[in-house]
Amino acid sequence: MLIKRPPDIRSSEITPESVYRSRRRFMRESLTVAAGAGTAGLVGTPTAVALPAEWLTAREVKAGVPLDEEMTSERDATGYNNFYEFGTDKEDPAKYAHEMTVDPWTVEVTGEVEKPGKFGLEDMLSGIDLEERIYRLRCVEAWSMVIPWIGFPVKKLIGKFQPTSDAKYVEFRTLHRPSEMRGQRSFFSNIDWPYVEGLRMDEANHPLAIFAVGMYGKLLPNQNGAPIRLVVPWKYGFKSIKSIVEIRLTKRQPKNTWNVLQPSEYGFFANVNPNVDHPRWSQASERRFPTTLFNPNRIATRMFNGYDEVASLYKGLDLGRYY
Ligand code: MTE
Repeated sequence: MLIKRPPDIRSSEITPESVYRSRRRFMRESLTVAAGAGTAGLVGTPTAVALPAEWLTAREVKAGVPLDEEMTSERDATGYNNFYEFGTDKEDPAKYAHEMTVDPWTVEVTGEVEKPGKFGLEDMLSGIDLEERIYRLRCVEAWSMVIPWIGFPVKKLIGKFQPTSDAKYVEFRTLHRPSEMRGQRSFFSNIDWPYVEGLRMDEANHPLAIFAVGMYGKLLPNQNGAPIRLVVPWKYGFKSIKSIVEIRLTKRQPKNTWNVLQPSEYGFFANVNPNVDHPRWSQASERRFPTTLFNPNRIATRMFNGYDEVASLYKGLDLGRYY
């Protein structure tokens, strides 16, 4: 069920009471948590609350470690998006992603695992603790944000399905439902849907790689990839695939959407790297939100987006060749 809340109507008037109460509890808890982490303006503009599931909203969320950098406003992070399934303009996802049904939601786990299957989100996440992670998000288009996600390590979920020794990569797929995703039925789209991404097994197992189910102390809005998306903070944003319905463990390197579309511009690894330019623009710096035409707020881009602890994953790899 989708609940949109105009500013002058109280949630309690349009939402079943149990749902309303548990959502308030979730927001209050994570609000306290996030306030301690220096978060400002958590209860900003109302966004579509995508998943009223009490099992999720009633959970405790462990506080995130704050960055010494200004948090991006919730308004920017939920209003300026890339989610081509809903159009190519930055405003399209916020306008149209409410057309996607996210409850119920199932995820199919296939490939090199001992325990494959199709799982309802609630069953799949049972026993997994949620925590806040405040991360930089660096888009390949050279803009960046700082976002307080709520989620859990990828490793915790994948481990449940017992990968075999042949599992070398993890492939993720987004929902393919043209009836609800206008970008997927557009004549102008040259993407071969569904959107696909992948990680090497050691990358997926790195503690910084998370699945997110919330942000800014609330459930993930549809435009940000509800109800479950990947967040890999040391890689360009296109690796952080949204609205995941399939996780496949494979022997071979997955063919990720942007690499298939334009291999000379987008690689499989997509590690943030100020020394390897995109063929059409420099990657040495980025526009950090809030940004305007007259004040672009340009800052230097850091290797691995500032997450040096992942460097050992790429020891001996030519990062200019494997971009
Ligand atoms: N996932 C899907 N399914 N479709 C997309 O178009 N865009 C990617 C990534 N995940 C995209 C996607 C890109 S290019 C970026 S920069 C991030 O989502 C943006 O995430 P955000 O909108 O939450 O900031």
